[in-house]
Amino acid sequence: MSETAPISIRRGAAGEAPHTQTYAVPWREGMSVLDAVLWIRTHVDSSLAVRYSCTNANACKECVVSVDGETAYACTARLPLRGVTVAPLPNKPLLRDLVTDIVPPKERLAARQP
Ligand code: FES
Repeated sequence: MSETAPISIRRGAAGEAPHTQTYAVPWREGMSVLDAVLWIRTHVDSSLAVRYSCTNANACKECVVSVDGETAYACTARLPLRGVTVAPLPNKPLLRDLVTDIVPPKERLAARQP
């Protein structure tokens, strides 16, 4: 019988009252928080929003979230058997669930003036 780890995720969209959902995720040594979130998306709730690209190289830096109150890359943060609490970055505008607007202002495309 495999062990499960609890992972609590703060969810909600911009302008909504956030709520926390806790999931029991099959745990294996060395798995990442992103592995757990993707397992939830695949097996429990495909509506859980998370952003990622490279999955384990700490290269794209798109998976940054808050893990137990500390800013971390979900793909490199390890999931301990005791579980973790994951939330969107508190200092960035929330889009939905774990996805925040992390694009630097200088990199935003501006509408062209006529
Ligand atoms: S998914 Fe690319 S740095 Fe985490």
